[in-house]
Amino acid sequence: MPDNPLGLFQNANYDQGSAGTEVSGEKDCHRLGKSDQKAGFSQFDILKKPDISVTIAGVRFKNPVIAASGTFGCGREYAGLLDVGALGGLCTKGLTLKPKTGNSGMRLHETPSGLMNSIGLENPGIPAFIEKDLPYMQELQKQGVVVIANLSGSSVEECAEGARILDMCCVDMVELNISCPNVTSGGMAFGLDPEAASSVTRLVRKALHKPLMVKLSPNAPDIIAVASACIAAGADALSLVNTFKAIAIDIEKRAPVFDNVSAGLSGPAIRPIAIRMVWELAGAVAVPIIGLGGIACANDALEFLLAGAKAVQVGTATFTNPVVTLEIIDGIAAYMEKKKISCIEDLSIR
Ligand SMILES: Cc1cc2nc3c(=O)[nH]c(=O)nc-3n(C[C@H](O)[C@H](O)[C@H](O)COP(=O)(O)O)c2cc1C
Repeated sequence: MPDNPLGLFQNANYDQGSAGTEVSGEKDCHRLGKSDQKAGFSQFDILKKPDISVTIAGVRFKNPVIAASGTFGCGREYAGLLDVGALGGLCTKGLTLKPKTGNSGMRLHETPSGLMNSIGLENPGIPAFIEKDLPYMQELQKQGVVVIANLSGSSVEECAEGARILDMCCVDMVELNISCPNVTSGGMAFGLDPEAASSVTRLVRKALHKPLMVKLSPNAPDIIAVASACIAAGADALSLVNTFKAIAIDIEKRAPVFDNVSAGLSGPAIRPIAIRMVWELAGAVAVPIIGLGGIACANDALEFLLAGAKAVQVGTATFTNPVVTLEIIDGIAAYMEKKKISCIEDLSIR
């Protein structure tokens, strides 16, 4: 036996609300006392159980699985179908300062292995979200779910004002969406160009004291340049990818399916491209990356974690399998147990 097995438990913070895997560049999987390490014991040897918690920008997630923005409401919508309190985190629907009615015409269209959407950021506005939805999400916070507000705006100033208000409420983190392909102003326009991405991130950063994650667009000509600009402007973490700009044509009507002509493609069809982007970004930047795009099972999520993501988000797959997030949490733990990997940080092959 190692001479200080308790040192392990004192530092491991199993379900105690702190530490876990620090992902701001440094590994903190070294939870064993020095004598344990000398004796050649790993955490796994002693606990026989992997630690699936992860800490991103100082916020501890009890597991690395987060419901993606726009696909999980505020969690209440799924409460009858699964234990929402078991999630690592939950991103709200995209929130703007004022209510938005969203786009006209067709909003969802299925493709082989994918889904196109043109919702247009329909939402009740930040004040109504705080009044009506946040109280439910506070209950989730008590169960250890990290609540992330997904913030959008049609101008830099609107985003900054939204951030100022969100800063005063109890959300844990803000995810700035500079990548929505379905709105005419703001949205993806911020995410295509490093200068535009920098100016919106900088103003939001100024208004926000909470951790800030910026959600990148896979449609950017140079995603690493945009990512670097966001980090220089104060982003603590990056999430990618949002949807890919795509078009479907109704051949009977001889017209585009969507009123806006283009829409955003998500689902398994985009996964290998999203993984490639996470891989490239993980090799280029030091901040934590949250990977998403087409994750539909634990193996998909593991591909992102191996490619360098510190956590994953799951979106479209929830529509066909509402409990997929919970299956992914269990599947990641089972994989780590099988491979004798003691913490999420050690999954990365980057
Ligand atoms: C119906 C729908 C609505 C979405 N709304 C938002 C949104 O409001 N804000 C945002 O950042 N992303 C939004 N997204 C993008 C997803 O969060 C996610 O980035 C994208 O769908 C890729 O992941 P997936 O393939 O797992 O769905 C939406 C996606 C869908 C399908």
